[in-house]
Amino acid sequence: MDSIHIHGGIALQGQVHIQGSKNAALPVLAATLLTAERSYIRNCPRIADVHAMVSLLKKLGCHVSWREDGLQVDSAEVSLGAMQGEAVKGMRSSLCLLGALLGRCGEAVLEHPGGCVIGERPIDLHLRALEQMGVTFSEGKGMIRGAARRLHGARIELPLPSVGATENIILAGVLAEGDTCIIGAAKEPEITALCRYLQNCGASIEGTGTDRLLIHGGTRLRGADFTVPPDRIVAGTYLMACIGTGGCILLEGAPAGEMADVLKAASQMGASCWVTEEGICMQASGFPRPVERLVTMPYPGFPTDLQSAALAVLAAAEGQSIVEERIFENRFRVAEELNRMGARIEQVDAHMAVVHGAGKLHGAEVEAKELRGGAALVIAGLMAQGETKVTGCPYIYRGYENICKDFRELGARIASV
Ligand code: UD1
Repeated sequence: MDSIHIHGGIALQGQVHIQGSKNAALPVLAATLLTAERSYIRNCPRIADVHAMVSLLKKLGCHVSWREDGLQVDSAEVSLGAMQGEAVKGMRSSLCLLGALLGRCGEAVLEHPGGCVIGERPIDLHLRALEQMGVTFSEGKGMIRGAARRLHGARIELPLPSVGATENIILAGVLAEGDTCIIGAAKEPEITALCRYLQNCGASIEGTGTDRLLIHGGTRLRGADFTVPPDRIVAGTYLMACIGTGGCILLEGAPAGEMADVLKAASQMGASCWVTEEGICMQASGFPRPVERLVTMPYPGFPTDLQSAALAVLAAAEGQSIVEERIFENRFRVAEELNRMGARIEQVDAHMAVVHGAGKLHGAEVEAKELRGGAALVIAGLMAQGETKVTGCPYIYRGYENICKDFRELGARIASV
């Protein structure tokens, strides 16, 4: 299923259910290593990244099985093994295993996750914070080895609110001796989800949802049931597709409370959105409006993971928009592919693009080079006149459970081939 074929130009209509969140599920799955008991993770999305995390957990000795509505993880026996290969290199979240294994076993061996197409993605903040907690790292032959004779709490000030580093500190902190205080923690809802799972297991964490977290370490954790929250990025992707194509849809179960800035941008782009008990309802005009300036920011700002989707829609708006990327330095690679569909996106530098709205897009053969950029190309294909073929789709399946089926349910002509 390498490519997706789209016959564009159809306004979306109907309702679609929003899957469980990838970025919440992955650290929670890593966290199951911190208890020797069984956990049940409901609403876990069946996506490539979750399958990769499951294979890594199994490699560590966990018994993991899919049930009807989720994943059962039994981590009674964990045997330390080197974490390497595609499941590690291709998935940033494998890095969460570092904090979890240090918490559970006092040591961890992981292949260096390296950079990736959306930017450098260094891990200095992860390593520095864990060092403050008593971990010694050595690197060689592309592997990172971490070991702590005594993992202990620390006062850690993060110079920038890194989501992954915050997660790793929490994971190491819950079983460490003493208290860990994170100042400048990331506030993304996925971190709150991780804290909620750990609290269900008996961990003591204060300040969830704020930039100052206090973790009282050392409590023996029990297994727990947990329901993965809906994916705000998938909801935002479908919302952007509706703005781009026009139409009227219900995003069933969409976490509106976590999407204030996305809804604000949607309204600037000309869509009417209203929140109901069922989710987010939206009505789009079919003629997206340009925005003066769209800026990505850490939560609760406009998410970097939806920047490419917004770029695709703004490419077809009549007029000029400025898009500023403040998180990653290589998120505009998709612009080149969108330009092959008739967009006129001019990349000023690593952090800014000027979109000269072309009014409409036309179909073309384009290539997904990363997850969210790939989803943006699907949106562009839905908006474009004529046929679009998106190749490189395994990237898209890393995060979207049923992107083609979901859009088909909304009336689109789209198929994975
Ligand atoms: C997570 C999300 C990703 C999202 C991103 C920002 C997961 C699996 N991924 O990625 O979808 O786009 O948050 O919301 O949850 N940085 C450093 N040193 C470090 C770590 C990060 O300089 O040690 C920098 C990064 O280069 C980037 C910024 O901090 O510029 C934010 O990165 P971070 O929040 O860590 O993103 P991820 O956790 O990798």
